[in-house]
Amino acid sequence: MSAHIETSREGQSLSPALEARDIRKSLPLGGESLDILKGISFQIGRGEFTAIIGPSGSGKSTLLGIIAGLDEPTSGKVFLDGTDITFLSESRMARIRNQKLGMVFQAYNLIPTLTAQENVEAPLYVGVHPGSPSARAKELLALVGLQHRLDHRPNQLSGGEQQRVAIARALAAAPAIVIADEPTGNLDQSNGQNILDLIRRLRDETGTTFVIATHDPTVAAAAERALHIVDGLLASDTAAAMAPPPPALMAEGSVR
Ligand SMILES: Nc1ncnc2c1ncn2[C@@H]1O[C@H](COP(=O)(O)OP(=O)(O)OP(=O)(O)O)[C@@H](O)[C@H]1O
Ligand SMILES: [Mg+2]
Repeated sequence: MSAHIETSREGQSLSPALEARDIRKSLPLGGESLDILKGISFQIGRGEFTAIIGPSGSGKSTLLGIIAGLDEPTSGKVFLDGTDITFLSESRMARIRNQKLGMVFQAYNLIPTLTAQENVEAPLYVGVHPGSPSARAKELLALVGLQHRLDHRPNQLSGGEQQRVAIARALAAAPAIVIADEPTGNLDQSNGQNILDLIRRLRDETGTTFVIATHDPTVAAAAERALHIVDGLLASDTAAAMAPPPPALMAEGSVR
């Protein structure tokens, strides 16, 4: 029997948006090895909104860095859209990231010398993207409630405003997958809700896949699936609405 790859009507392959296979990460520390991730596997389908939850220090950011191709696992594999990205060259990885991935970092990582608008435009000057970068940046900054802060540089923005610029930047190139680390950590309830509404709308309208590490119970409850990371292991994988996480898991980091 000849091998064949199952395809959808549009001819796209039906591989998961993202697959992690037995991801382990250890770092040398003082002559010993610190095991941060101890074998984590999951698949995330297209258009899924998945929350990654768990106590502070459990390995969420480490895992996100690996599935976004920013960091290499000690062992295991990561597939993005069916492509093994685990040990790609930095230039190939950069191209894939620009085409397919939007990333919101826990520490925002905005470029300090650029204004809010220029930060959001920046990914649109890499590769080919339709439309005008400045119009797209203004549109996204308005969606996150920052139409009045276009010309402010990061040091002229509040923490929550910087966070919203980082979200707008991650969405600028209309990526298939958005990986976000605590995207609402510095937002008040109404701005947090606004971001959730934006996520839901993008998901419904464009089928964008969202993977979001969060201590925010509202975000975790809005996701349709929660991967609970505890001490470097996947403690459970649940449909969030059906089985809310144990309060202890959410509470531990909720002061952040
Ligand atoms: N470069 C490093 N060297 C040594 N230890 C590290 C390094 N990076 C991370 N760690 C450790 O790995 C563990 C997991 O860190 P990680 O940032 O992934 O946690 P997290 O779940 O994202 O936590 P938080 O909820 O506080 O953001 C922590 O105990 C951290 O101290
Ligand atoms: Mg983290």
